[in-house]
Amino acid sequence: MKALIEQTRTAIEDFPILDANSLEAFRIQFIGSKGSIKQLFGELKSVPNEDKRAVGQMLNDLRQLAENKFNDVKEQLEQGGSQDSSIDVTRPGENFVLGSRHPLSIVRSEIISIFERIGYTVSEGPEIEDDWHNFSALNFPAEHPARDMQDTFFIEKGEREMALRTHTSSVQVRVMENSKPPIRTISPGRVYRNEAISARAHCFFHQIEGLYIDKNVSFADLKQTLDYFAKSLFGEKARIRLRPSYFPFTEPSAEVDVSCTICNSKGCNVCKYTGWLEILGCGMVDPNVLAASGIDPEVYTGFAFGMGVERIAQLKFKVNDLRLYSENDIRFLNQFKGVNN
Ligand code: PHE
Repeated sequence: MKALIEQTRTAIEDFPILDANSLEAFRIQFIGSKGSIKQLFGELKSVPNEDKRAVGQMLNDLRQLAENKFNDVKEQLEQGGSQDSSIDVTRPGENFVLGSRHPLSIVRSEIISIFERIGYTVSEGPEIEDDWHNFSALNFPAEHPARDMQDTFFIEKGEREMALRTHTSSVQVRVMENSKPPIRTISPGRVYRNEAISARAHCFFHQIEGLYIDKNVSFADLKQTLDYFAKSLFGEKARIRLRPSYFPFTEPSAEVDVSCTICNSKGCNVCKYTGWLEILGCGMVDPNVLAASGIDPEVYTGFAFGMGVERIAQLKFKVNDLRLYSENDIRFLNQFKGVNN
């Protein structure tokens, strides 16, 4: 009998009560009129007389224990508390550790949204490219010295010699091959060039290139688009200027400077005391390039432009060492917490 009482005591103590249902199950099993405590009381008559007092006392204690547990938990549940002892409701809360977006992602999405507002789509393509898409279709003839403008990583892929793309103009060739004008697209992505790593150069970086092809697209459209872009990105006061340049795939070509956002064009060491910062290359798509992708250059004209995301991020966030972007230094990345986009 004593052993039975002990067993019931442990069962009462261990019984998990988590909600109203298990509370009711507890009541039925131990306290109710058909519960185990009632049954034990029923067996008191078969206990030898000299033990009756002690056993009776034990049973009273047992009933008290069960009733106390029942009432305590009931009260807690009514107050919305939990009976799970692994949760310490008095412990102070811990802050969520919020990460930050990478500065290049922040700048990339800002640039994308500026162009999406004027109807550009986003197109992507492979990082391992064939010669056609990275060079030939873009009017770089074989053996042409312009190929040396971009120090290329060549790789073997099966029988074929492939290249890590040196610019995302390769994506634009793919878009031209696969769609009909009007085309308005920007191609963000990682590109590779065989350069020694330093504060000012890296063997990979990120570009966003744009392409617009339709009937009657003129150089004035290009200038207006770039002016809108510079003002959206750097503020209404930003101005642009175009300098003649050369790219195999555009004719005429230009390099674009934006007024120095750091010194307001007064002259500082970032703009090398010129008041201007170079941000992108652009030009009218060469008729050869249109023809190579199956677009009739007699009917259509277009413009293209390309910029480095790191360069823009450098100007926006005043980061002057390219290596910081890929070193995953948490002290660097933490500074971009809470920056929008
Ligand atoms: N593809 C060029 C580069 O990577 C940039 C560019 C794009 C220039 C489009 C003109 C027109 O340097």
